[in-house]
Amino acid sequence: NEALEVNSVPYKFIVTIRPKEGWQVYSSAQDADGRCICTVVAPEQNLCSRDAKSRQLRQLLEKIQNMSQSIEVLNLRTQRDFQYVMKMESQMKGLRSKFRQIESNRRTLLTKNFQELKGKMNDLQPLIPVLEQYKTDATLISQFKEEIRNLSLVLTAIQEEIGAYDYEELQQRVLGLEGRLRNCMNKLTCGKLMKITGPITVKTSGTRFGAWMTDPQASPKNNKVWYMDSYTNNKIVREYKSVSDFVSGVESRTYNLPFHWAGTNHVVYNGSLYYNKYQSNIIVRYSFESGRVMTQRALESAGFHNVYPYTWGGFSDIDLMADELGLWAIYATNQNAGNIVISQLDPLTIQVLNTWNTEYSKRNAGESFMICGTLYITNSHLTGAKVYYSYSTKTSTYEYMDIPIHNQYFHMSMLDYNARDRALYGWNNGHQVLFNVTLFHIIKTDDES
Ligand SMILES: *[C@@H]1O[C@H](CO)[C@@H](O)[C@H](O)[C@H]1NC(C)=O
Ligand SMILES: *[C@@H]1O[C@H](CO)[C@@H](O)[C@H](O)[C@H]1NC(C)=O
Ligand SMILES: *[C@@H]1O[C@H](CO)[C@@H](O)[C@H](O)[C@H]1NC(C)=O
Ligand SMILES: *[C@@H]1O[C@H](CO)[C@@H](O)[C@H](O)[C@H]1NC(C)=O
Repeated sequence: NEALEVNSVPYKFIVTIRPKEGWQVYSSAQDADGRCICTVVAPEQNLCSRDAKSRQLRQLLEKIQNMSQSIEVLNLRTQRDFQYVMKMESQMKGLRSKFRQIESNRRTLLTKNFQELKGKMNDLQPLIPVLEQYKTDATLISQFKEEIRNLSLVLTAIQEEIGAYDYEELQQRVLGLEGRLRNCMNKLTCGKLMKITGPITVKTSGTRFGAWMTDPQASPKNNKVWYMDSYTNNKIVREYKSVSDFVSGVESRTYNLPFHWAGTNHVVYNGSLYYNKYQSNIIVRYSFESGRVMTQRALESAGFHNVYPYTWGGFSDIDLMADELGLWAIYATNQNAGNIVISQLDPLTIQVLNTWNTEYSKRNAGESFMICGTLYITNSHLTGAKVYYSYSTKTSTYEYMDIPIHNQYFHMSMLDYNARDRALYGWNNGHQVLFNVTLFHIIKTDDES
């Protein structure tokens, strides 16, 4: 009887672990650009050896160690952001006290100075909720650290007396922790735009107007670049295997599209090019793999052919883009008085899934880009352009903001966010440029991931 029980332990263990499903490891590292990288590690399949159990334990320990490292990375990143917040906070406090000081003897001051200061204060107001959210995040991370440390201790103890622990429970705890870590990472990758830095000039080529991009849905190894020069009278897409091939001009393929495009606001998403067919409000999905148009669909009511372009014109009426949440079209309609309309699109059918009406005139917008379901709009395509307005599709609310963007070559005809690279791709007067973005992560509700 006793022997039977002893023998049943490893059996039960193997069944419970189910290596095919249970052993995904979500770890994270930080590259030079401060981006979090998540990796999935598949386990060894063959567990049927005599010391399978201790091997499992070793793996568990290793896994915990890996997760601890991930937490460290998150923590590091958080701390870096935290310093930024702290700086902002102290700046705010400084302003506030100055403000009070001035208010107390404002009779001696010119109204103009007073107003100026008041304006500055108002600009900083939106930071307050972000700061508060931030603090919750920091707490979350220290909780994770605590839990992992705890689990490591438990595991070490178990390793010393193998068999004295309920593996099923242990496994559950590890899986639970993994899930929470994954959620935590998802939360940290989405956020509110705080700052745009750069640009770096990747290449100088083409006309004043054009588009270049990579596929945010592609695997990390696939870094293909697509290049579409000019806003009209063209249907040649050039493909490069990598950014360095793009820089040195080594083309890998060209695609001759069946229809001309309009504007520069195309997007490559999950292996397909989405673009606006010339002189229409039709959106075309062209598959690079098959070299064929898979779908065409009119974007109902959308203005086209310079009815509602961005400030620079160029048939930029319909702007297609992708972010963490999927595919979007930005355009304007008569029904919304020429103001910007946001529609989320089904990537397969190009059908509109949901629509939001903003109150920002499309013809007064320089460019726009979407990050984590929030549309950011610049006020100009010329020198001095800044991100001036944002609209959250999550809350259906807007906000004025003031985030400068360095328009190095004085004319911006394309600006799009790439969620994989966490960068803005721009076409700046015949220069292909990249901007870094600083996002502030905000704790999200559970209905998102
Ligand atoms: C832990 O991370 C290392 C290096 O990234 C990897 O080789 C190893 O397989 C990971 N261990 C487990 C159990 O996932
Ligand atoms: C650590 O583990 C013990 C024993 O399982 C548990 O009672 C305690 O709540 C854990 N602490 C944390 C922070 O998870
Ligand atoms: C982004 O920032 C990293 C360092 O923080 C820098 O190495 C990189 O060149 C920057 N990229 C751009 C496009 O500015
Ligand atoms: C990307 O395309 C593949 C098939 O090519 C499909 O299975 C997958 O669902 C697509 N992903 C998204 C986010 O559309």
